[in-house]
Amino acid sequence: MEKRKIRWGIIGLGKIANKFATDLATLENTELVAVASRNLQNANEFAEKHNAKKAYNSYEALAKDADVDAVYIATPHSFHKEHSILCLQHKKAVLCEKPFAMNLQEVIEMIAVAKEHNILLMEALWTFFLPHFKYVLEIVKSEKFGKIKSLEADFGFHPIYDENSRVFKKEVGGGSLLDIGIYPIFAALSTLGKPNSIDAEATFFESGADADCTMIFNYKEAKATLKSTLLENTPTHAIFTFDKAIVKINTQFHAPSTVTILENGKEETIDFGYKTIGYNFETAHFNQLLRDGKKESDIMTFEFSKNLIKTLDKVRGIIGLEYS
Ligand SMILES: NC(=O)c1ccc[n+]([C@@H]2O[C@H](COP(=O)([O-])OP(=O)(O)OC[C@H]3O[C@@H](n4cnc5c(N)ncnc54)[C@H](OP(=O)(O)O)[C@@H]3O)[C@@H](O)[C@H]2O)c1
Repeated sequence: MEKRKIRWGIIGLGKIANKFATDLATLENTELVAVASRNLQNANEFAEKHNAKKAYNSYEALAKDADVDAVYIATPHSFHKEHSILCLQHKKAVLCEKPFAMNLQEVIEMIAVAKEHNILLMEALWTFFLPHFKYVLEIVKSEKFGKIKSLEADFGFHPIYDENSRVFKKEVGGGSLLDIGIYPIFAALSTLGKPNSIDAEATFFESGADADCTMIFNYKEAKATLKSTLLENTPTHAIFTFDKAIVKINTQFHAPSTVTILENGKEETIDFGYKTIGYNFETAHFNQLLRDGKKESDIMTFEFSKNLIKTLDKVRGIIGLEYS
């Protein structure tokens, strides 16, 4: 049976929007119809590069476009709630970048609007849909190597400090924790679940955004040591020590990668043969949800998104990171 074509729009045409659009083009029965930027020239250039028919200099105009089924929100964190709700109110299915919003209250509001309008909404946490990560989730679920004893996961890079970049600007949600710390936390929550207690420490830029954050998640029989940093390039891997083996998601664990298994002195590395940047997997899932008339993902559930943001809120409370 021919699959219904899903017609996409993108709001906020920065770095990630470019990657998302590149991978969108690899999916069947999927079309990028419209893009919206605050700047018309930017919208026109993006539309030309990615073969979108329409370019808007207003996010609202895109949200109102009757030819658009689904919108990908790729603006800075502090706008996720506003832009998601704008689209949901115009009956567009929404795939919104991580972090879903700035705090739990905002996420609850977004979910409430999606439910009120009976529209699909999902947080774009692409790692959940990548085959190598799903492979590790299967290992965890099957307990073929026993239970996880410890997890070590990091995400660090060293960008040049730029007060105009969203990564450093506190007013748009900048800092390491929400931007990249979300991935090690995601690795812990998706494999070990909610921790019993959390210890965390951070250092801060002059802007007040966190420069790095180290966290320990304590579980009954396991410990997760997690780190995010904008001060150094770190391996960005995830190492799970099980009772009977070590499973390592190699650099960079949150993106398409390989998995190395060390068991009984033998080492095996599995290559997943990725051919794209990796954003097509979450989009294919979202397209299918839309075709099936679903209003919530069975993988990136509302419950999971709420737990994720709750955990980020909790860590922020411990390190004293407040956003206005
Ligand atoms: N899933 C992933 O792998 C991944 C990777 C990177 C980022 N992200 C997430 O995606 C979001 C965007 O990140 P990015 O790296 O693409 O950022 P970016 O390059 O700075 O792009 C963000 C875009 O948002 C729009 N925007 C609207 N209001 C803005 C404001 N006040 N200040 C700055 N930009 C504004 C701008 O687009 P227009 O000028 O066109 O309106 C801008 O180009 C973030 O929430 C981030 O966490 C996800």
